[in-house]
Amino acid sequence: MGWRQCLRWTRCRGCCRRHADEAAQDLESLTLELATVRFAESGIAASVALGSNLNEAALEVGVHIPKVCGIGICGACRVQLVSGSVNMMHNGGISDEEIAKGYVLSCCSEVTGDLEVEC
Ligand code: FES
Repeated sequence: MGWRQCLRWTRCRGCCRRHADEAAQDLESLTLELATVRFAESGIAASVALGSNLNEAALEVGVHIPKVCGIGICGACRVQLVSGSVNMMHNGGISDEEIAKGYVLSCCSEVTGDLEVEC
């Protein structure tokens, strides 16, 4: 039985050496696909996993983008893309005109490749 099937995994993590070794090997075999996100005004670039949340990626490298609702309603986290694109699932916090101009809501945008943001 592998560690993923072990019903006691959450309890045996610290005491079952065999399962811990299997888990470590599994994690080593994972390959993350990365993208580079550049924050133009800040002059900061970060490598992030594809699918990362844009607002959280910014926060992790010290770039603060305001965030209020976190679900794409208020528009506080709006940023403009200089290049690249994101997968954005918002709830009305941005207009079609803004989207056409390259604005996205960072709280509900997933990084889909290399991109540059104006902030
Ligand atoms: S924080 Fe409200 S839309 Fe992103």
